[in-house]
Amino acid sequence: MDCVSPILDVATRLWDCTAKRAVYIRHLPQNLNSLRTAMGELKNLYKDVKERVEREEKLQKKRTHVVDGWLRNVEAMEEQVKEILAKGDEEIQKKCLGTCCPKNCGASYKLGKMVLEKMDAVTVKKTEGSNFSVVAEPFPSPPVIERPLDKTVGQDLLFGKVWKWLQDDGEQVSSIGLYGMGGVGKTTLLTRINNELLKTRLEFDAVIWVTVSRPANVEKVQQVLFNKLEIGKDKWEDRSEDERAEEIFNVLKTKKFVLLLDDIWERLDLSKVGIPPLNHQDKLKMVFTTRSKQVCQKMESTKSIEVNCLPWEEAFALFQTKVGADTISSHPDIPKLAEMVAKECDGLPLALITTGRAMAGAKAPEEWEKKIEMLKNSPAKFPGTEEDLFRVLAISYDSLPDEAKKSCFLYCSLFPEDYEISQRNLIQLWIGEGFLDEYDNLQEARNQGEEVIKSLQLACLLENGRSRFYVKEKYLKMHDVIREMALWLARKNGKKKNKFVVKDGVESIRAQKLKNGKRHRGYHCGIPTLKNLGNHHISLLWRPF
Ligand SMILES: Nc1ncnc2c1ncn2[C@@H]1O[C@H](COP(=O)(O)OP(=O)(O)O)[C@@H](O)[C@H]1O
Ligand SMILES: [Mg+2]
Repeated sequence: MDCVSPILDVATRLWDCTAKRAVYIRHLPQNLNSLRTAMGELKNLYKDVKERVEREEKLQKKRTHVVDGWLRNVEAMEEQVKEILAKGDEEIQKKCLGTCCPKNCGASYKLGKMVLEKMDAVTVKKTEGSNFSVVAEPFPSPPVIERPLDKTVGQDLLFGKVWKWLQDDGEQVSSIGLYGMGGVGKTTLLTRINNELLKTRLEFDAVIWVTVSRPANVEKVQQVLFNKLEIGKDKWEDRSEDERAEEIFNVLKTKKFVLLLDDIWERLDLSKVGIPPLNHQDKLKMVFTTRSKQVCQKMESTKSIEVNCLPWEEAFALFQTKVGADTISSHPDIPKLAEMVAKECDGLPLALITTGRAMAGAKAPEEWEKKIEMLKNSPAKFPGTEEDLFRVLAISYDSLPDEAKKSCFLYCSLFPEDYEISQRNLIQLWIGEGFLDEYDNLQEARNQGEEVIKSLQLACLLENGRSRFYVKEKYLKMHDVIREMALWLARKNGKKKNKFVVKDGVESIRAQKLKNGKRHRGYHCGIPTLKNLGNHHISLLWRPF
């Protein structure tokens, strides 16, 4: 008996093995069908997950590594299954099944086994795919985001002062207000501080930049902080302003950070936002910019510094770099004429760079004389005020070569102040308005739009917006003073006040109130299409056509 049992054991195992093989082979057609169906189901699931991922990515999120791996695996799996199914179909065609001719038996068995294994793998992937609760996460915000900055002149002293205060804990300077007229270089200085913080990596956990603009809005500032501070959505959505402020406060009170607020027009109640008191354990430093000294007082800044216009030497140097050395030296009379134009800019950087650009390439003295004549003749209502500045800035507008570019430029003032305009949307809107006309198809229209943008940028009438490293799209911005000039120009140099009205942050306007125009446009913040009236934060453009 002792010798028989091992033999029986072996025989049983052999039988089992053969039976299994036979099953693999016999059930091959059914198994192939099941695999086909399961793969179809997995493919549908794949499409659903992929659509979800793409939707989230449009909301500027990044797919998780797990989901990315899953999508890739399913793609590879689809190819493998296709191959197995093709082989299986071929095998069935050979009609070797059931009777199993010895030659092909081995191959059929192998294939049958592969089908079942793949089936298991497909089932696993199906389960995984159905269980993704999160497919994408917000991009982690780096502690400081670099902002675009051109070469600056004449701000070193001021920068040094602010920088020292930022570093120095001893002096107890917790908030610094930079004030000065529009276009004088406040945002530029703040940008330099932001970028320097990135370079030197002072010991701050976060540097937070918020462009406040008009109207100051607690909710908007809170939203920027929410994006930056990685506060959970569950603690944010459907919460009141006060509850959100509490969340912000709880995160910020544990961090050492710098808050950079650009373009404040009125007192912003920091406690309403959730920002801890400024002398709170010396953890917070704040630098803000404003056009008004009064705002500095209202914001109770520890130090207020005026950002002044450039002294003549630096002003003229800046002007000359924008005009270009070859234009300046192209005729012996030009340097003197250039001085006359630059003097009109009164050391204001924005005026210097825009008029400088407008004169770039003007190599005939007559061109310069014409511009000087224009400047003298266009009467400034109140010399020394912003209207006086617009008169100087308008040179760059007048120098635009055609009406299409002028209309495209004026149109940009329709967007809210400091708004980041998507280049693609802007061109579409221009096409819709009929400003672009030299095209046979849409692609040509888009190319023409891009050309217009290039010339407006070259004229310093449009600036680059902030690039977003996760989105390919380009963004543009209009300087707030340039926008004010555009509106002034659109109202026929301020003479016809009601011809062209843009109002920001209007909650509701009755169209009947504006009687004489034939057409109006509403621009809704955040949605890159023109919308009808009745929305919040609407910019309203009103002009007779
Ligand atoms: N010191 C400077 N050197 C060179 N360019 C400057 C300087 N200050 C400002 N600019 C340029 O002038 C324009 C207006 O400056 P900005 O900082 O936006 O003014 P503000 O914020 O005071 O309105 C910008 O295009 C900027 O690049
Ligand atoms: Mg500014």
